[in-house]
Amino acid sequence: MKIFLDTADIEEIRVAARWGVLDGVTTNPTLYAKVGGSYDDILKEICGITPGPVSAEVVAADVDGMLAEGRHFAKLAPNIVVKVPMSEEGLEAISRFAEEGIKTNCTLIFSAAQGLLAAKAGASLLSPFVGRLDDINQDGMEVIRELAAIIEIHGYEAEVLVASVRSPRHVIDGALAGAGVATLPFKVFGQMVHHPLTDKGIAQFKSDWQKAQAELAGKV
Ligand code: E4P
Repeated sequence: MKIFLDTADIEEIRVAARWGVLDGVTTNPTLYAKVGGSYDDILKEICGITPGPVSAEVVAADVDGMLAEGRHFAKLAPNIVVKVPMSEEGLEAISRFAEEGIKTNCTLIFSAAQGLLAAKAGASLLSPFVGRLDDINQDGMEVIRELAAIIEIHGYEAEVLVASVRSPRHVIDGALAGAGVATLPFKVFGQMVHHPLTDKGIAQFKSDWQKAQAELAGKV
């Protein structure tokens, strides 16, 4: 399974890239607003850190506006993927981008039906928001399960991307359900690395080693 970072924070991306497990990055207007500055410059910098897909989201609500923004993003770097919200206009823009060879990530998907349409329109990434569905007491992972099965059965080229991830559990359940990608806030990335018993074990091994070395030094 591919793991993306869901952030526009350059430092977070640099750290995860150093771990050697970063396959790409997703951004959105909210994540961008947290860091501010020029969105173009941020995107170019991210694309220089990871060779994987970097999602840049359009904010226009009309097709022509989406196309203009997306074509602009696509020129910034070869690994840009244009993120387009699920809507009638979004589907039209996704189909047009597909004809032009521009890759898209269909965002704000909340049902398998929406995901199926996005796959048919030619999106390469389908992003159901599991956390936001869980927040309203619906089973977000069910959308991942259904969509992953549909993609597999019908041989669509799109990949299911687990978005709006709140915990490592979402990543593991998404992987088992057949999603190809999960995009994680940096905090969840860290939670995947650590376990209290691992940290305790490392400290124990170190102290036992030092004790043995001290005893050895006392004998010579
Ligand atoms: C996906 O690409 C989105 O940027 C993201 O996962 C949204 O998650 P949120 O519900 O934490 O805002």
